[in-house]
Amino acid sequence: MAESHQEVVKVWIAPGCIVCDACETDSPKVFDVQEETCIIRPEAQSADFTKPLTPSIITAAEGCPVDVIKFETIEVEGPEPWAGQEEEATKETTGAGGGGGGGAKGPVIPEGPPEPKWAGLLSTAHTSGSRSGGGPGVHIGQAKAPADAIASAVGRHAPPDAMAAAMVGSGYTRPSLNVAERILEKAGIIADAAKITRRQFSTALAIAWGALAATFATAGAAFQSFLVPKVTKEPPSVFRAGKIGDYAETGVYEQFKASHGVWIIHEPNGEIVALSDICTHLGCIPNWLPSDKKFKCPCHGSGFYMSGVNFEGPAPRPLERFKIAIEGEYIVVDKSVKFRKELGQWTLAGASITV
Ligand code: SF4
Ligand code: FES
Repeated sequence: MAESHQEVVKVWIAPGCIVCDACETDSPKVFDVQEETCIIRPEAQSADFTKPLTPSIITAAEGCPVDVIKFETIEVEGPEPWAGQEEEATKETTGAGGGGGGGAKGPVIPEGPPEPKWAGLLSTAHTSGSRSGGGPGVHIGQAKAPADAIASAVGRHAPPDAMAAAMVGSGYTRPSLNVAERILEKAGIIADAAKITRRQFSTALAIAWGALAATFATAGAAFQSFLVPKVTKEPPSVFRAGKIGDYAETGVYEQFKASHGVWIIHEPNGEIVALSDICTHLGCIPNWLPSDKKFKCPCHGSGFYMSGVNFEGPAPRPLERFKIAIEGEYIVVDKSVKFRKELGQWTLAGASITV
């Protein structure tokens, strides 16, 4: 039987993303984790783009803790084009040396003896006699390098918890400094924080008081700013959207999307309408995909026809239209007046103009 494999042709995010960042780590070209949800990057809404990224998309979907990454695949004849690269990619995402991981994702938390990568560094360590912390602290020779070296061995971009785990797993704990020593070291006043004089202590105290005063001053300024009303720079709700002749061809005109959140649509039936760019699901901003002749919301995959009518995804109703009128040779849009198709308002005067 001929060999075949699956390739991802469509990927979307169902509601419920907890913005954990995992998918963007697994497949940064496809997923863009924003403040409130993860979205699919506009370029990743094409099958040609997603097909070669199939392994990373599937990895991201399997790793999503709330299982909101959905995708569609098609069967393609022949061996997987990425067959040889998968192992490499897995090594890269799990970090080198993750023996026995069996393809497990995420950072490798070291167990048992330290990794050989920093074992040499740790061999210069000695156990301090101090037991004040409830157990022997491990100090690292003369050099300040070990923490940095461990960091680079784990990977500069490793998550903080992986970094901490690596250091603890390697038996390395940072010698603790007292408050004055930490202030002086941070200010670059002493290199060897272990030796501190009374004078240095006074200097540290002065710096600390200075920092405290600056903090209060900043907080006070922020509070004052909070009390003063802010002027927002919203674009006016009524605006001229060019001349009628600017919309001679049937199609979607995007020049007022960025500034006013409006698409001007010249529909095949000759009507010109002003369409809102707010997705009626949860308010993301869809993109117009000329090749598919549809608006596609990057958040959860809702699709809308050129008319604004929803036909796929979770959006419960069509995009809204704004009032549109002809004044002289100009088209004028009034965003304060909306028309909703599901309420039968698209046939009202002002919902469209005919040329
Ligand atoms: S889609 Fe899933 S993996 Fe991606 S950020 Fe949201 S919850 Fe995390
Ligand atoms: S906001 Fe969810 S599909 Fe648009």
